[in-house]
Amino acid sequence: MAVLLRRRLLLLHLLLAIFVAASRGDQSGEDYTTTICNLQPYTCGGVNISYRFYLSNQTSDVRGKNGSYCGYPGLGIDCVGGKYPTLNLDYYSYNVTHINYTDDTISLADPDVLDDESCPRVDHNVTVPPIMWLMNSTEDTTGYLLFFANCSISTLPDEPHIKPIACACPDDGGNGYSFVVPSYVPHQILSQQCNDIFVVPVLQNVSQIDQEWSTSGYRNILELGFQLEVDLSRKSEQCGKCEGSKGRCAYSGGGEFAGCFCNNGRVEDQECNGDGKTFCLLLASFFSFVRSKLLRD
Ligand SMILES: *[C@@H]1O[C@H](CO)[C@@H](O)[C@H](O)[C@H]1NC(C)=O
Ligand SMILES: *[C@@H]1O[C@H](CO)[C@@H](O)[C@H](O)[C@H]1NC(C)=O
Ligand SMILES: *[C@@H]1O[C@H](CO)[C@@H](O)[C@H](O)[C@H]1NC(C)=O
Ligand SMILES: *[C@@H]1O[C@H](CO)[C@@H](O)[C@H](O)[C@H]1NC(C)=O
Ligand SMILES: *[C@@H]1O[C@H](CO)[C@@H](O)[C@H](O)[C@H]1NC(C)=O
Ligand SMILES: *[C@@H]1O[C@H](CO)[C@@H](O)[C@H](O)[C@H]1NC(C)=O
Ligand SMILES: *[C@@H]1O[C@H](CO)[C@@H](O)[C@H](O)[C@H]1NC(C)=O
Ligand SMILES: *[C@@H]1O[C@H](CO)[C@@H](O)[C@H](O)[C@H]1NC(C)=O
Repeated sequence: MAVLLRRRLLLLHLLLAIFVAASRGDQSGEDYTTTICNLQPYTCGGVNISYRFYLSNQTSDVRGKNGSYCGYPGLGIDCVGGKYPTLNLDYYSYNVTHINYTDDTISLADPDVLDDESCPRVDHNVTVPPIMWLMNSTEDTTGYLLFFANCSISTLPDEPHIKPIACACPDDGGNGYSFVVPSYVPHQILSQQCNDIFVVPVLQNVSQIDQEWSTSGYRNILELGFQLEVDLSRKSEQCGKCEGSKGRCAYSGGGEFAGCFCNNGRVEDQECNGDGKTFCLLLASFFSFVRSKLLRD
């Protein structure tokens, strides 16, 4: 009897040792090699920069993927001079006026417009590069203003909505007229007669109210900026699992999923608490094994 008990105890100890070794070896996650998530939330010029968005200089090597960050591709905010949050879209830098974490939108304004008190000039389209996980906001919050410059119009069209920009600058080319209209105003003649066309998103509800496009109206609307929305549909399955386990996804500079940052300070393949799950599984199989052994003896 004593011999049998000793054998059983020995077996138990052996199994425990194996189990401890196995559970250690199972720790696939590595500790954070960096602090890329640690500066979140970060406040820059009154704008809260938190996950999905990140500070653009907070990048590092995550599991061999260099230039990785704690957030989604293209959502890196520069904090210029520690005061001005900005986002680059296609080589143009826009001031970030607000980020709404409830509906995942970011509000941007063109600095040329913000900084020009009298006669803001729009000289480029607002385009979102494909690498960025941002899209134009859903239609009820986004409208478009069309700017026409370098026009060869010698007599102004007899259309109430089409008036030249009051402060048009002489170096606009053509005969000096430039125009701005909301996209819902018929503008065929301008498309035909003007060489340069620029499309700028604006907040729809405002553009329907103010009819004084050509004078002060368009500036007021541009100053309010425009909104882009985080394109959540591009999230990888791994990132979905990571967020589902309360982790934060890291993506590489090339836009690939790089790892899952967990609150316990570790990087996992996909899910946080991965260790916890494996632990339970091991524990369960351990006990059933011991039980069967003991019963057999
Ligand atoms: C910033 O936003 C995040 C995400 O919504 C929130 O958890 C955090 O409390 C906010 N921080 C500040 C300082 O507003
Ligand atoms: C990442 O590594 C590649 C190859 O070593 C290099 O070409 C690239 O510039 C690096 N990117 C960053 C953001 O450091
Ligand atoms: C990143 O930018 C922020 C805001 O400008 C600054 O406080 C921080 O020191 C910078 N970090 C690095 C590593 O450059
Ligand atoms: C917009 O950002 C730039 C820095 O890129 C800054 O110089 C400028 O003052 C900002 N404008 C406003 C109105 O915040
Ligand atoms: C953020 O978005 C939500 C949902 O659209 C809205 O109810 C809320 O007013 C917004 N917050 C701010 C500060 O704009
Ligand atoms: C006006 O358009 C013509 C034809 O596209 C172009 O050659 C010229 O550079 C433009 N002028 C300005 C000031 O943009
Ligand atoms: C701006 O976008 C409009 C519509 O897509 C296009 O017709 C126009 O040529 C673009 N302008 C420039 C300067 O790329
Ligand atoms: C909608 O219009 C009202 C009245 O002009 C304005 O107070 C509000 O800020 C606008 N909403 C947005 C999202 O710009």
